[in-house]
Amino acid sequence: MATNLQGKRVVVVGGSSGIGFAAAKLALVNGASVIISSSNQAKVDAATKRLSEFNPGGREVEGRVCDVKGGESAIKAFFDALPEFDHLIWTAGDPLRIGYPDIDLAQTQDAFAVRALGPIYAGKYAPSHMPKSSKSSITLTIGSVVRKPRKGWALIAAIAGSVERFTKGLAVELAPIRVNVVSPGLVKTEMWDSTPAEQLNAIVSGAEKTLLVQHVADADEVAEAYLYLLKCGYVTGETLNVDGGGVLA
Ligand SMILES: NC(=O)c1ccc[n+]([C@@H]2O[C@H](COP(=O)([O-])OP(=O)(O)OC[C@H]3O[C@@H](n4cnc5c(N)ncnc54)[C@H](OP(=O)(O)O)[C@@H]3O)[C@@H](O)[C@H]2O)c1
Repeated sequence: MATNLQGKRVVVVGGSSGIGFAAAKLALVNGASVIISSSNQAKVDAATKRLSEFNPGGREVEGRVCDVKGGESAIKAFFDALPEFDHLIWTAGDPLRIGYPDIDLAQTQDAFAVRALGPIYAGKYAPSHMPKSSKSSITLTIGSVVRKPRKGWALIAAIAGSVERFTKGLAVELAPIRVNVVSPGLVKTEMWDSTPAEQLNAIVSGAEKTLLVQHVADADEVAEAYLYLLKCGYVTGETLNVDGGGVLA
């Protein structure tokens, strides 16, 4: 039976916007305290303020800055400075490098830094701050590109595929702490803010016509998947696809 998150502490890396922010909000609703983190101080401050104003149960809300591109030392320092926590959600993602093979391949490794290498470092440095129990969890993020790559998305598919396999390996390493990954399809978030409005409208209306669920999710709808994985102590090493049936469309 799913339990609520009363008295638990949830850390959300990437919690200053989009899916991570929505997951932090939902964790608060479920009785947890939250620590959100991302690379930009102003964004962390603004998101922490919004969460504190929302905060239905008056839980503890904190924001911390960590630029995941700082690599192993930055991520170790981030986790070492945290109080003990029960759940880690990783939604951090920098702008996508779409357009392979016609992109500058000198930046290929950098493209893995936030979405793939970040979780690899977190998998080493987070667990010592978490109770060793199936009630503790790490939930990572990929995308439906892993099952249905589109033209120009091969590099993103490689990143997502590596994170999906890493999830299974990490679940074995960290047991009984659970490790899962959410794979969203198209979601209306700040990630799309830099896409010209006309282009974005075309993407969304195209998706609404083809997705089995006939709508494009907002971050709150997708956040439910993360909360399920935090709460259900019997799920580990799994990918939860939350794509509106996009892969079948
Ligand atoms: N939205 C979609 O349609 C969709 C679909 C499938 C998969 N996804 C994946 O889901 C994840 C979350 O997406 P989203 O839509 O919520 O995106 P978002 O709104 O852009 O949020 C991304 C978060 O990552 C943080 N971030 C970026 N660079 C960082 C860095 N160097 N260090 C630490 N944090 C960093 C951002 O904050 P700062 O800028 O302050 O660092 C922000 O909090 C991403 O991996 C994305 O690829 C999204």
